[in-house]
Amino acid sequence: MAEDLKITAAGKEEKYKELLPQIIGLLQNENNAIANTANTCAALKYGMDFFWVGFYFVKGDELVLGPFQGPVACTRIAKGKGACGASMEKKQTIIIDDVEKFPGHISCNALSKSEIVIPIFNNLKDVIAVLDIDSDVLNTFDKTDEFYLTKIVGLIKF
Ligand code: SME
Repeated sequence: MAEDLKITAAGKEEKYKELLPQIIGLLQNENNAIANTANTCAALKYGMDFFWVGFYFVKGDELVLGPFQGPVACTRIAKGKGACGASMEKKQTIIIDDVEKFPGHISCNALSKSEIVIPIFNNLKDVIAVLDIDSDVLNTFDKTDEFYLTKIVGLIKF
């Protein structure tokens, strides 16, 4: 049975440094992608206090909603559409400081103000999923988030 996460740090990088070994512990005895993406969402949502954390999985030419924590969200996003579709198409992390200034941003919730999307690859370098995180505060995400979130998705076997 998993224990509750403990985050005592105040700064972002310190929080990630405290959270990372706890996520490693949470994932280490489980290899099911649904179980591990679900727990990763909860760990990030409650450990980092994000507004919305979720995975979208590539199905053909679109993304379909997977495990998430937060308010209900859009279920399907076409390749190239919105932040998630852009990350899937460009195969790169997308950081949006202000969602209102990102052309084509898909608003699933009016409280979302800034966003980061991390693409997840298979061994052939195809994008197979994305991790999408929304904040209800502008300018939340930067290279530190990209660094730790990329490490965290790298722990999950898909
Ligand atoms: N804003 C995303 C859509 C997903 S929700 O934020 C949960 C986008 O533009 O792709």
